[in-house]
Amino acid sequence: MSQPRPLVAGNWKMNGLSASLQEVKTLAGRLKANDTIAAQVMICPPATLLAALSTELEGSKILTGGQDCHAETSGAHTGDIAAEMLADAGAGAVIVGHSERRADHGETSENVRAKAQAAYRAGLTAIICIGETQTQRKRGDALKVVSAQLSGSLPGAATSENTVIAYEPVWAIGTGLTPTLEDVGEVHSHIRAELAGRLGEGEAAGLRILYGGSVKPGNAAELMGVANVDGALVGGASLKADDFWAIVSVYAASHTMG
Ligand code: 13P
Repeated sequence: MSQPRPLVAGNWKMNGLSASLQEVKTLAGRLKANDTIAAQVMICPPATLLAALSTELEGSKILTGGQDCHAETSGAHTGDIAAEMLADAGAGAVIVGHSERRADHGETSENVRAKAQAAYRAGLTAIICIGETQTQRKRGDALKVVSAQLSGSLPGAATSENTVIAYEPVWAIGTGLTPTLEDVGEVHSHIRAELAGRLGEGEAAGLRILYGGSVKPGNAAELMGVANVDGALVGGASLKADDFWAIVSVYAASHTMG
């Protein structure tokens, strides 16, 4: 079974104003000039920039995505955004179940599953985030937590086409800390095995499992070189074209992977 095409997605979180579109223009220009990048590249800006960014990137190789969606199509949900609205604004994907949503908004895996189903309904790829806290890892519960979040968050209709899993250890997000390569490999192969149990070996082999949490230009090559790591979900380092480009360049033909 051939490996899936890697994905490098930038999650801008609550960062970015109109002026930030310039960073993406720079990135799109570099991607256009270098056609050896094997990875798909995606930016998930704040919702306020999604339509403008999608228009800006039309005809480029960069996809856009939302950072969250409501489970329903429409209705009285002030401040929320339906998956259909993200698609209408040009998104091809949406992040669901990010640990910041789980922690700040009390989202459960059941909520996350409903959001992923909403993504499918709207024709979007669901990027489902899972990951343990530091306390859970110290207790030796990382695999158990990841399994529980995966089984609770993954809809029955998940396929390698409509779903991406992002393993993001909560303690590695925005801290500059990363798990050892061994630990990353252990969790990713565990997720692959769990997916095989749910979806069958073939489908599981083609489903992308991203690593996220303090991915930087300096550590991207080694992290992306770990078995079963099919790309990255990048926060802080996706805000600047130079940093994000350095991470994306891990997948350039000239770059030798670790
Ligand atoms: P950082 O890359 O800033 O650690 O954030 C990771 C993340 O949460 C991406 O979704």
